[in-house]
Amino acid sequence: MMAPPLPALLLAFSLLSIPSQARILFPFEQRQLTKEYVASLSEADQALFGFDDDLSTLAVNTTDKRCRYGPADGKWPAEKAWTRLSKQLSTADALIKTTPQASVCYGTAKDDAKCQTLTASWANSYTHIDDPTEVLSPIYQGLTCQPPTIYNSGSCSLGGYPSYVIKAADVLDIQLGINFARNDYLRLVIKNTGHDFGGKSVGAGSLSIWTHGLKDIQFFDSYTDGSYKGPAVKAGAGVQAFDLYKAANEKGLVVVGGEGQTVGIMGGYIQGGGHSPLSSMYGMAADNVLGFEIVTATGEFLTANSTSNPDLFWALRGGGGGTFGVVTSVTVKAFKDLPVTAASWTFDSAKLGKDKFWTAAKAIFDRSTDYVDNGIYTYFILSPSTNGKDFTFTMQPFFAPNRTTQGLNVILAPLQSQLTALNIPFSPKITEYKGFYPAWQAEFSLETQSDVQTAFGSRLFPRSNFASETGRNVTFTALRQTAEAGQMIIGFNLAPTLARGGNPDNAVNPAWRSAVLHAITGLRWDVKASASDIRAARTSFTNGTMKRWRDVTPSSGSYLNEADRLEPNWQQSFWGNNYAKLLQIKKDWDPKDVFWAANAVGSEGWVVESVDGLPNENGKLCKVNGTTAAVAEEAKF
Ligand SMILES: Cc1cc2nc3c(=O)[nH]c(=O)nc-3n(C[C@H](O)[C@H](O)[C@H](O)COP(=O)(O)OP(=O)(O)OC[C@H]3O[C@@H](n4cnc5c(N)ncnc54)[C@H](O)[C@@H]3O)c2cc1C
Ligand SMILES: *[C@@H]1O[C@H](CO)[C@@H](O)[C@H](O)[C@H]1NC(C)=O
Ligand SMILES: *[C@@H]1O[C@H](CO)[C@@H](O)[C@H](O)[C@H]1NC(C)=O
Ligand SMILES: *[C@@H]1O[C@H](CO)[C@@H](O)[C@H](O)[C@H]1NC(C)=O
Ligand SMILES: *[C@@H]1O[C@H](CO)[C@@H](O)[C@H](O)[C@H]1NC(C)=O
Ligand SMILES: *[C@@H]1O[C@H](CO)[C@@H](O)[C@H](O)[C@H]1NC(C)=O
Ligand SMILES: *[C@@H]1O[C@H](CO)[C@@H](O)[C@H](O)[C@H]1NC(C)=O
Repeated sequence: MMAPPLPALLLAFSLLSIPSQARILFPFEQRQLTKEYVASLSEADQALFGFDDDLSTLAVNTTDKRCRYGPADGKWPAEKAWTRLSKQLSTADALIKTTPQASVCYGTAKDDAKCQTLTASWANSYTHIDDPTEVLSPIYQGLTCQPPTIYNSGSCSLGGYPSYVIKAADVLDIQLGINFARNDYLRLVIKNTGHDFGGKSVGAGSLSIWTHGLKDIQFFDSYTDGSYKGPAVKAGAGVQAFDLYKAANEKGLVVVGGEGQTVGIMGGYIQGGGHSPLSSMYGMAADNVLGFEIVTATGEFLTANSTSNPDLFWALRGGGGGTFGVVTSVTVKAFKDLPVTAASWTFDSAKLGKDKFWTAAKAIFDRSTDYVDNGIYTYFILSPSTNGKDFTFTMQPFFAPNRTTQGLNVILAPLQSQLTALNIPFSPKITEYKGFYPAWQAEFSLETQSDVQTAFGSRLFPRSNFASETGRNVTFTALRQTAEAGQMIIGFNLAPTLARGGNPDNAVNPAWRSAVLHAITGLRWDVKASASDIRAARTSFTNGTMKRWRDVTPSSGSYLNEADRLEPNWQQSFWGNNYAKLLQIKKDWDPKDVFWAANAVGSEGWVVESVDGLPNENGKLCKVNGTTAAVAEEAKF
């Protein structure tokens, strides 16, 4: 008897499965700097580009090396050294000397037509994301070169922008950049999209590695890792939400990524945790990571996954961007696409009257636990009107994965009947979508750049706050007072508890596991405010408004990716009990602090000495004077 032929489909599937021992690299990851190549270089070039073999703690000579060298220092690499770096990089134009975009508005480069065009597109996030150095929270650059009608800086200077950028096209570029910066005692930063809320993707006098161009995506039908066997996707560090969701949609899959259209999923977002419209179903984005490819502080390129460098793997899932190395790609679980139904509605106190308005807002808030336990993710804005007298509440969207209109109505029914009984008209707009991608595209709008006069802060509100009427009242009052003081609130209901899969052991802030609401607020000051006025405003925000939020959530924390740069006790707030372990991993992998970012793990030993005394990146990165651990080690030297 003849054996039946192997069905073609089965064959195709088995070919796409991953033999579990293979290291799958993108073409851009196969072009690497090797020790053999470095050894073949001249002695001078070896000094510039060589790997680091010495993993002992940085010995800081406080006279000579108190601060990372900047362009005004004698030890800054000579023009010739930069030229030699440029020659080693993958392409002739990979090394970019920073020219702020708004230089066309000032001085000798002034060009009124170009300045006008730039000004008109300034609020558009793409103007900043697709630029090598621009960021979406410009206050942290130091506002030294904005279009004058937005913020008149009088002249244009580099401020907190890096001096040079490597537009990375392959792993080789990243290794060269890290080695060059480390060997020459320069400040190193990483920019992907520039979405960071706290200025972590810029730095004065630094060399920046720009990962935006690393856009490769590869799907696996079947990927095996421990108990997981299922579809997966490996995506380059530059892949953004819109890239990833589109590609997944074409395969009938979904991936846990951000709500924001342009956020860089495989950079700071996923390393900081990453909340998602799918989080109440599948947890944080970081919970779904299967492995990272990363260039570490020594210049070495390696894998961090459950079996290779598991300590680094643990830290990279929630420990924050810009801290442990430059990630070049991330492999994450993918799931079968699912239908989505979304609702949206608005309440306006001018139409409804204030009492009914607050009753309606509270009724929505009171049911937070119920929404998230039904797999829902919400995005709402509670906003005071410009005259400060009225308020609007906009739910856009109430996002229900795997629900039909009928299913959604069941979830909204208790709210509907409460509001009807109170004579508050409630008729949400409900739309059913066949899959995640069209729902996400239609329901989340493109967010703009932040303005030049606002600082943000956020808090995770735990389930226990919603368990009693007293708890709900006290919590809601704290939020209401913020809105009544004229501050806008952006809220997200989600519960990344992984009730279905069990919490993986990773570095994600434990406060996320009991949260059902993540809320952000901001404080806006006058655009002409002086540095001391801004400092006073920020104190009243951090230690006033945000303290009231902390006071009603004493054992919780804040989401590091959307936080106040002045968050008090940030180690506890961003990582809780995970911090001690994270700090040890940072010391093991980057004892010389090659990677540094504000409020990142292990950042305590350094501070940016900003020229205006405000918390921003416009100043040198220097060792903190005093009795920190890092300085105690210096004493030994
Ligand atoms: C409009 C908008 C929408 C957002 N939506 C969401 C959302 O839906 N969910 C959510 O959780 N958060 C959201 N965020 C917050 C977002 O998670 C953070 O801003 C995050 O830092 C963005 O990462 P990025 O790589 O895109 O940005 P960047 O500013 O380029 O980088 C952020 C940090 O990560 C580091 N980094 C970047 N790439 C790498 C890399 N390859 N290796 C190592 N370090 C790296 C940078 O050095 C920096 O410290 C949003 C932010 C904005 C402004
Ligand atoms: C982890 O990465 C290594 C090296 O790339 C690989 O050999 C190993 O199979 C990976 N482990 C898993 C569980 O995929
Ligand atoms: C520190 O640097 C200064 C200036 O370069 C030098 O004179 C001094 O000898 C150095 N100190 C040590 C202990 O190496
Ligand atoms: C989606 O709903 C279907 C039908 O109710 C159910 O069988 C399936 O498990 C759900 N999927 C998820 C991911 O919850
Ligand atoms: C909660 O607030 C409502 C509305 O202000 C009030 O009627 C109720 O008595 C409060 N309940 C508690 C337990 O404080
Ligand atoms: C808040 O108060 C603490 C303790 O008094 C202080 O150390 C900190 O600098 C204050 N924060 C701001 C932003 O003013
Ligand atoms: C730290 O000490 C140096 C001198 O050793 C001094 O120049 C510098 O201003 C000090 N910095 C701070 C932040 O106190």
